[in-house]
Amino acid sequence: MIYLDNAATGGQKPDQVITAVTSALHTCANPGRSGHKLSLSCATLVHTCRQAIHEFFKGYGYDRVIFTKNCTEALNIALLGVLRKGDHVVTTCMEHNSVLRPLAFLQKQGVIDYDVCPLDEDGNISANNIAALVRKNTRMVTVTTASNVTGATPSIREIRAALPPNVLLLCDGAQGCGHLDVDMRGMGIDFLAVAGHKGMMGIQGSGALLFSDRVNPAPLLFGGTGSISVSLEMPDFYPDGLEAGTISYPAVLSLLEGVSYLTAHKRRIYTRLGLLTKRLWSGLKDIPAYHIYSKPNPCGIVSFAHQDLSSEQLAAILSNEYDIAVRGGLHCAPLMHEALGSLDGGLVRVSLSHFNNDSEIDELLNALREIAKRDFNAYMGM
Ligand code: ALA
Repeated sequence: MIYLDNAATGGQKPDQVITAVTSALHTCANPGRSGHKLSLSCATLVHTCRQAIHEFFKGYGYDRVIFTKNCTEALNIALLGVLRKGDHVVTTCMEHNSVLRPLAFLQKQGVIDYDVCPLDEDGNISANNIAALVRKNTRMVTVTTASNVTGATPSIREIRAALPPNVLLLCDGAQGCGHLDVDMRGMGIDFLAVAGHKGMMGIQGSGALLFSDRVNPAPLLFGGTGSISVSLEMPDFYPDGLEAGTISYPAVLSLLEGVSYLTAHKRRIYTRLGLLTKRLWSGLKDIPAYHIYSKPNPCGIVSFAHQDLSSEQLAAILSNEYDIAVRGGLHCAPLMHEALGSLDGGLVRVSLSHFNNDSEIDELLNALREIAKRDFNAYMGM
């Protein structure tokens, strides 16, 4: 199979990630729970990972790095753990349902009100459009680092500069992390939600929330932390206060190795992914049966529609007849598809990894050329 669905989950992991996860399965204790040597050595590696993530994203201290099971959980902690009655939020039409659904829930409960920033004429989110929606009671702006539909990357620096200093900035790093340099302190980001299993090269079940020292998110989950066990309340310090229950040690190790791999190879990865994306985008724009909705971007995403087929139909043909994996549909980002005018049939999203190669791109292009020659109107009218 040619796997081109890396924005859904990274199809190939670096060898060092696989080795680390395998070793964690061979030798594993519960980190931070018991006092024996194995538990302590696991806890030390968890701490090393926290420190590595803090340094990679230039965060606000290793204790403000929380391990989560995915980016959705991280976003939910940042939203439900911080927003309070009367708060106003500005979000964008680019956001994933992992932001939009918690916001809609909070609004329905009468806790918050929110506005949605539209796309600008370039298909991106502009700082001015966001700033225009800010009110006196705006507590938070939530903006993705990269659209999971088109790979467009809003300028986080410009957005921060356009906001009043007291407004908190939450960035969804699900698609951007591992593809873009994210410097939390330099960019003025208060919350960064990270998916471990995409650009960060980790495994499913890995994720993190990093947050600034001007916020103190309340827990969504209550339980054992291995600390202050005598108390019936969650610890009032981090990371313990937000990490109830056993963390996934294999997932954390995968993230540690993912960060180490990215740190060593980042420039090569960025360049390679950029070239592959350009190759596909350039080839596709010469096939008249397809309309491309994305621009060349650092995230490896190329999204398009066939003139007659729905995105699900085209994705099914690619899978069944050519053994090529892509994602059709709405990608859990309904407002983005509405803004692009693709709510009806959705889009086929190809999402590349630096592990892909030129011949895989060429095979996809050949398949798309062949499909373009078919007369689906005649076929569907039969
Ligand atoms: N959010 C992931 C995607 O865009 C799953 O496919």
